[in-house]
Amino acid sequence: MDFEKIFSHNEAWIAEKLSIDRDYFDKLSKGQKPEVLYIGCSDSRVATEELLGAKPGEVFVHRNIANMVISIDLNVMSVITYAVEHLKVKQIIVCGHYYCSGVKAAMEAKDLGLLNPWLRNIRDVYRIHKDELNVIKDPDEKYNRLAELNVEEQCINLIKTAAVQKAFIERDLRVHGWIFDIRSGKLIDMRINFKKILKEIMEIYNLNEGKSIF
Ligand code: CO
Repeated sequence: MDFEKIFSHNEAWIAEKLSIDRDYFDKLSKGQKPEVLYIGCSDSRVATEELLGAKPGEVFVHRNIANMVISIDLNVMSVITYAVEHLKVKQIIVCGHYYCSGVKAAMEAKDLGLLNPWLRNIRDVYRIHKDELNVIKDPDEKYNRLAELNVEEQCINLIKTAAVQKAFIERDLRVHGWIFDIRSGKLIDMRINFKKILKEIMEIYNLNEGKSIF
């Protein structure tokens, strides 16, 4: 990557923005009011704004290895709290992708050092869905299915948080589970039936004194 190019591209970008709107950066500096929180994989091939066709100011973004929502990860939890309670986003997207190396690594019997505790959370998703996954013979199909199930579990992890539950009760916050198919370029809405899933687990995870979150 040519760093000189980056800075000359930046100059061209500024000129382009200002030619359309002289106050563009003035307006940007006033603050943000994004309606969407996006949680995705750090994978360099899954470029958030390009994928969503989003402009600066439209999406609050968090990316980590394999788009995980881990309750003791202060980073993702701070992002969720800030986006939901302060920015008051209306939608949260958890976007996974096929051919995710994080998901693949979690299916292999290998010691990856510091990555072990992170990937362990994906292994737990594997364990929960072991019966379904182990009947899939094709290795690619199997690990892509785990990528899908992982998105579903991370969406459920989101809904286990007090901030998201409160926003469900007080306003119409929506959670979406998506998958990006790198081989075709297709963005797929998995249309996860949260109501059904949550009915089964809310007796355990409800943090709102038993108030129904739907
Ligand atoms: Co990935």
